[in-house]
Amino acid sequence: MRRLRVPSDFIIGAATSAYQVEGNNVNADWWHYEGERLPRSGAACDFWNRYRDDIALAASLGLKALRISIAWDRVMPSEGKFDDEAMDRYVDMVKEIRGHGMEPIVTLHHFVNPMWFTSKGGWVKGENVKYFLDFAKYVSDSLGGRVKYWLTINEVNLYVILAYLLGVFPPFVMNMEYMWRALVNLLRANDSAYEVVKREGNQVGLIVHISPAKPASRFSLIDWGLAMGMNYVLNRFIANALAKGKLPDWLGGGEVGRLDYIGLNYYAVAKVKFNPLTMGELVANKQNQRGWVIDPKGLRWAIRLIRRVRKPIMITENGIATDDDEARIKYIRDHLAIAIKEGAIGYLYWSLLDNYEWEIGYSARFGIIECDPATLTRRPRASAYFLGSVASSGELTY
Ligand code: FCB
Repeated sequence: MRRLRVPSDFIIGAATSAYQVEGNNVNADWWHYEGERLPRSGAACDFWNRYRDDIALAASLGLKALRISIAWDRVMPSEGKFDDEAMDRYVDMVKEIRGHGMEPIVTLHHFVNPMWFTSKGGWVKGENVKYFLDFAKYVSDSLGGRVKYWLTINEVNLYVILAYLLGVFPPFVMNMEYMWRALVNLLRANDSAYEVVKREGNQVGLIVHISPAKPASRFSLIDWGLAMGMNYVLNRFIANALAKGKLPDWLGGGEVGRLDYIGLNYYAVAKVKFNPLTMGELVANKQNQRGWVIDPKGLRWAIRLIRRVRKPIMITENGIATDDDEARIKYIRDHLAIAIKEGAIGYLYWSLLDNYEWEIGYSARFGIIECDPATLTRRPRASAYFLGSVASSGELTY
């Protein structure tokens, strides 16, 4: 085993998102479609009521940071209306995180919108961006200087693919043109939210998701073609746009990509295979309850791709869904070592708790802390103690 010293300013922690842990986000678009097209989230981990205990537990493990998101649907349950009580609870969450000596890392948009926003046409309409900015301003005024690390939009590039191209997430659209429009609007929303949230001493970032795509068969020309297409739409387009700071002419041009640091979410590589019925599909791997193909070297590729943006890189998500916690520890070791060696500024494991994993519900266990979906009992796994001890000792053996 080799030893690696964790740089003293490298942030090690865990990530969550509002909808996946809080429970009963009844004004969200996602909630609206549950039962019909999506599994029920119900009480999720009931983080909305149990956050104080969860934050204390995360800190007791030795973690140095906790990433949360603010549910837009709670804070603005209807158009033009702000819920101060809900916001107070987020202020308290941030105070608790700080009070326990951890760094709060706050995301404004994590896949979910208020239903009223989606009913107005959501992200496809440029004129709707203003509603998000009202929300960003309100949150920024409420949390103010308590938060150093802000993240405007989670996985801007993957979100538009899931919601507007593959039709897996609300509003279940399958239209390439809509996907590009939504991406442009979200990138514009990022730039304006940057202006709203930015103040002296804080760091405002945007999150991208990178999954290097590879052909399932090296001898299949069509698999190669699909992998190249996926690499462009998912990975290269966003890396290039942010590196150049502008959109290509065919998307109307214009500056994009205001950010102080970039959040990088990396999980796995995508092995792409031609399928005559669906065109393309991803090869599944049983090591991961999500089916994703684990390959730590893909993280190195992702960091190197994103480095062209010339901003500090924080790994804002990286994780494995498994009941085999030894495999989780190995996964963390391998990826964390690469993140440190490649010069990232932090590493947040996804996720603090087993939680509601979007379109597949509670069947994927990503947590370093087990959360029993029936009883909501929390049990830290060995991986939780492992990650905490690396964070507090500043030393990683791998
Ligand atoms: C990412 C999402 C996160 C979680 C993980 C497994 O794409 O940002 O919410 O669901 O995947």
